[in-house]
Amino acid sequence: MATTKGTEDNLEQELQSLTERETFEPPAEFRQHAVVDDDSLHRKAHDDPEAFWLERARQLTWVSEPTESLDDSNPPFFRWFADGKINASYNCLDRHVDAGLGDRVAFHWRGEEGEEEAWTYADLLRDVQRLANGLKERGIGREDVVGIYLPMIPEVVVAMLACARIGAPHNVVFGGFSPQSVSERMKVSEAKALITVDGARRKGKTAPVKTEVDQEGIGDLDHLETIVVVRRTGADCEMAEGRDVWYHELLDGADDECPPEELDAEHPLYILYTSGSTASPKGIVHTTGGYLTGIAHTTKIVFDLKPDEDVFWCSADVGWVTGHSYIVYGPMLNGATSVMWEGAPDYPDKDIWWEICERYGVTILYTAPTAIRAALKWGVEYPERHDLSALRLLGTVGEPINPKAWAWYHKVIGGERCPIVDTWWQTETGGIMISPLPGLTATKPGSATLPLPGIEAGVYDENGEELDEGQGYLVLKRPWPSMLRTLYREEDRFVETYFEKFGRETYLVGDAARKDEDGYFWIVGRIDDVINVSGHRMSTAEIESAIVSYEHVAESAVIGEDDEDSGQAVTAFVTLEGDAEPDDELESSIREHVAKRIGKVARPKRIIWADDLPKTRSGKIMRRLLRDIAEGREHGDVSTLREPGVMDDLAEKVREQGDEGDE
Ligand code: PRX
Repeated sequence: MATTKGTEDNLEQELQSLTERETFEPPAEFRQHAVVDDDSLHRKAHDDPEAFWLERARQLTWVSEPTESLDDSNPPFFRWFADGKINASYNCLDRHVDAGLGDRVAFHWRGEEGEEEAWTYADLLRDVQRLANGLKERGIGREDVVGIYLPMIPEVVVAMLACARIGAPHNVVFGGFSPQSVSERMKVSEAKALITVDGARRKGKTAPVKTEVDQEGIGDLDHLETIVVVRRTGADCEMAEGRDVWYHELLDGADDECPPEELDAEHPLYILYTSGSTASPKGIVHTTGGYLTGIAHTTKIVFDLKPDEDVFWCSADVGWVTGHSYIVYGPMLNGATSVMWEGAPDYPDKDIWWEICERYGVTILYTAPTAIRAALKWGVEYPERHDLSALRLLGTVGEPINPKAWAWYHKVIGGERCPIVDTWWQTETGGIMISPLPGLTATKPGSATLPLPGIEAGVYDENGEELDEGQGYLVLKRPWPSMLRTLYREEDRFVETYFEKFGRETYLVGDAARKDEDGYFWIVGRIDDVINVSGHRMSTAEIESAIVSYEHVAESAVIGEDDEDSGQAVTAFVTLEGDAEPDDELESSIREHVAKRIGKVARPKRIIWADDLPKTRSGKIMRRLLRDIAEGREHGDVSTLREPGVMDDLAEKVREQGDEGDE
């Protein structure tokens, strides 16, 4: 069935007229059945936030229920529900199985080559207990960090929940990051075990993951005593005696029952590394009770989730926080049915997402603006091949959505009947903070709208004065349960990064934003040296440090250049040592080097050869000026530069290199 009819020209016109509309009210029919259709939650949260959150927390099943809500005696080290005891894996699995929902499908898994597996809650509970026992036999227990480096296969869910069952914080590394970053992350988190795979598939090709990981010095890490290997592609790999074990053998030999550990609410559930202003990634630490409370609650109210009717699909990778919160914990805490897709959006063909939506009857789709922009570019013919009429709600995350992509999503995918929730949040916040409630909030394309109940956001000027209009620093003015607790083994950095600028009670987000006359929030972008490529958060410093580690490179400055497809693209200015000469071969070697060091997502799209870089007298590179140059603008004030002439030389170079590229 076609969701849109008519020619591309008509569609263009319709999109145009949609983008001219400023607000979209929740459709009446949606509102009638919505989980939240009035402002009572907002009122409760406003009148007594602590009571509001405690009541939310009590919707989980606790080993011993908390009587305390927020403990703010030592800011910014906030604690939530601290006298409660709980287990995350129990809440995601046993609770539903005990309630008679063991046969409900938790995940419809779809493999790249069309394979299908339906994993029920009971299936997952069985394997989680076995793996948990297998890990315990290998001496892994509470507080031992376990790395997970797996593709989008059901075992990744089993691995995360097995860790949660025994109180071992998991440290998932995105499958698109390089084996070298895995090795580094295992080192800095002193992981005791790693769960990985023999090989991974991507668009019909395979990568020998385990062998690559072995090549990156993983064997030198004394603390890494166990590597569990999932057999996936059958790729040959060496299994180190005593250290390495096959996942299936571990499960086969393990006991079926593993009682969940009774953990303090503030027990660490996971560490997830994300990019910051410096080259070393930040280990965001989330704890158990508060995180679960926030995630269960936001999944329900933002996605209007009705677990016995909906089929939920969050298209992220589990290696990002979006996957942690809205593929694994959020839907499973609510006992929902989700879809998990192994592959890329354009393999085997560009209609695969829409085929999946049709096949499993997806009702709620949550994705990133960059994916929508790509689909828009490929054209309506792909979604038109499939029946998307089961969809009732759409979501986006990761970057601001441009009005045209919003209008296309609304019209072509949502058939104009589905509300769109543009959700703003971060790895640090654990869950969604600013977002429409789909049955309640009128949306404005490009705005994440309003803070959720219990969340107080604001925009501050440099001096901490609240701004009702104009651009400033986005802040969160009161603690919330799913907030990060610290940076792993970097307490000072935690305080400095988030709680210094405006004091220890006010969380500095790192984004610039403005509010409009209705109090709606519009996210402008990062205020630090973090860039956003296709919704993936990257540190310019980390990419620079990878580039300068390459031979002949003297110096590098990386910026995020505006890009139609990916929002921002990595552009690197590179100066070479002595008499080294730039050429295409060097350019492609540098790009590959970055892919190997960090991952393909970090690979520069453009390299600009420079003789010198614009620096202040104290030697700081002025990225603002580099952005002007890359994007072909008149450059701003250069009076503070040590060598103002550098700018004209660079502009000339960019023009020359652009011309060469055009030939
Ligand atoms: O700049 C904001 C942008 O993504 C950053 C967080 O990145 P990360 O920790 O990787 O988490 C991404 C998924 C939650 C934010 O600081 N961002 C996220 N969502 C939005 C957004 N920018 C605009 N609109 C959004 N909806």
